[in-house]
Amino acid sequence: MSAVCWMTPWPSMMLRGKFIALTFRKSPSISIVRVYRVKIIKTLVGYLISVKVTVLCASGNTSGCTHALCGAFVDECRDRGHDAELIDLSALDIEDCNGCGVCRKKGRCILSDGSEVLFEKVENSDLVVLATPIRFNGPSSIMKRFIDRLNPYWLSDKPHPSRACGILCGGSPEPVFSHALSELKSAAATLRAEWAGELLISDTDNSGCGKADVKAFADKIFS
Ligand SMILES: Cc1cc2nc3c(=O)[nH]c(=O)nc-3n(C[C@H](O)[C@H](O)[C@H](O)COP(=O)(O)O)c2cc1C
Repeated sequence: MSAVCWMTPWPSMMLRGKFIALTFRKSPSISIVRVYRVKIIKTLVGYLISVKVTVLCASGNTSGCTHALCGAFVDECRDRGHDAELIDLSALDIEDCNGCGVCRKKGRCILSDGSEVLFEKVENSDLVVLATPIRFNGPSSIMKRFIDRLNPYWLSDKPHPSRACGILCGGSPEPVFSHALSELKSAAATLRAEWAGELLISDTDNSGCGKADVKAFADKIFS
């Protein structure tokens, strides 16, 4: 079996298959060797570079595909040592933007529906995931209501998440994703978050939720 070995000032490391050996030199004649599984080291490093992920699920069907995909993505994030939270937007009483225009002058929304906590979480995230089913070729009304409330971010210099991505699922074999995707990207741009990519799942009404695709999507997002 081949081994990769390289010397560092402290400690030296040797990688062999699934294991990594760390050699700590106590004195010129005494060394202590510790062997760890590479997976454990990866998890530890993952915690050190942990990313705050907020997944916003905009489907009222808690046993549907959007929730299943969001749950699978949260699991993937946690497996990688990230701090991930799933927020069910359908369970929150987010009021509709009434277009009053106060945010133009004051830089903040005057509606007091308790969504300040939600927006604070969005602002403080490294990655925001916008997840929606396709409804009549667009995003769900739940997602649309959330997006409309982002207007204060367009008009003021508020804190913002670093990146955003999308999870979309449509029931037909060839859903029209482009309209909903355009809305999600517009939301990300308003939040000044870099668009990191999207997971598009088709044919959910016949072929299941496509949870198997979530791992590859997470690989892409965290690569
Ligand atoms: C009101 C309504 C409108 C829908 N419109 C579309 C559509 O335009 N295109 C499509 O591919 N699927 C459409 N679907 C199917 C859903 O996108 C699909 O069932 C999806 O999996 C629903 O998400 P959920 O599993 O999280 O509930 C629609 C479903 C509903 C209930």
